[in-house]
Amino acid sequence: MDKKIVLSGIQPSGVLTLGNYAGALRNWSRLQREDRYCYYCVANLHAITVRQESEALLKRTFDAAALLLACGVDPKRSSLFIQSHVSEHAELAWALDCNTYMGELNRMTQYKDKSARHADNINAGLFTYPVLMAADILLYQASYVPVGKDQKQHVEIARDIADRFNKNYGETFVMPEPLIPQVGGKVMSLQDPTKKMSKSDPNPNAFVAIMDEPDVIVKKFKRAVTDSVGVIAYDEERPGVSNLLSIYCIFTGMTMDEAVASFEGQGYGKLKAAVADAVINELMPIQAEYSRIIKDEAYLRSVLREGADAARAAARRTVRDVYTRLGLSLAE
Ligand code: TRP
Repeated sequence: MDKKIVLSGIQPSGVLTLGNYAGALRNWSRLQREDRYCYYCVANLHAITVRQESEALLKRTFDAAALLLACGVDPKRSSLFIQSHVSEHAELAWALDCNTYMGELNRMTQYKDKSARHADNINAGLFTYPVLMAADILLYQASYVPVGKDQKQHVEIARDIADRFNKNYGETFVMPEPLIPQVGGKVMSLQDPTKKMSKSDPNPNAFVAIMDEPDVIVKKFKRAVTDSVGVIAYDEERPGVSNLLSIYCIFTGMTMDEAVASFEGQGYGKLKAAVADAVINELMPIQAEYSRIIKDEAYLRSVLREGADAARAAARRTVRDVYTRLGLSLAE
């Protein structure tokens, strides 16, 4: 049986939050099935599009890998690796750069946002970021790409690039499809619920980190911004309460109707305490597992070495094919 390939990546650019957990990490372990093989990478080449302190970046890269294992990524069913350990990512990115139009990249919203936020460092990598991400995906012939809603545009450009390459040079790449979670695709800030929950928010009360201590989690939810209506209901006009309800659903598995019904006649205090409780329940075992793994450096390194070896073997095949089609390799 030919297994379908799943690929995803996560940037090691800050503490990982509930948003990362709900939108990515928890789904990654669930996608490991008999009929699939998964490649999961810590996308450190993407992270350097923003200036990083090298030691901190290295540490966060290993932390992210350990956290992925703690969240249930299983090295027997997936290759877990660090993007920069597989040089084929950079090689394919260049080949694809030369097959991507400036106009296409100009439309990307993340580039616009990031250049506004880092006006002193609008580098070429920030602009070609989506091409590197396309290379991540296309190298492994991935059919499925689990991502949050904010990354949908990037998977679409990967499809456009693949389609154009296939038309110009013959069938080379499998067409990837984004897998966007129905619930959990977007967890909002606890302080400004019209904005996405972000690890780079200067106000730490705006996000819950996966590694936050239980009492910190309780406190952050207690301080979450709601409204003065006082009725617990899902309503887009009331983003604070709606966000708390969504988080509650993600962590209890309840539907929105069930959740709303369960809080009938209750106040916001009750809702906040219940959300904190549900989140803590799920995060505690993950935190314990993370602490165990991060101490076992030999194990972590061996998982990442084997992950990179398996990834490289698959990536090599694609680069060889692409180079042949572009006239870059001598006949074998
Ligand atoms: N750009 C993604 C993000 O910021 C991370 C990422 C890098 C990724 N490479 C990828 C996601 C490949 C999916 C597939 O969240």
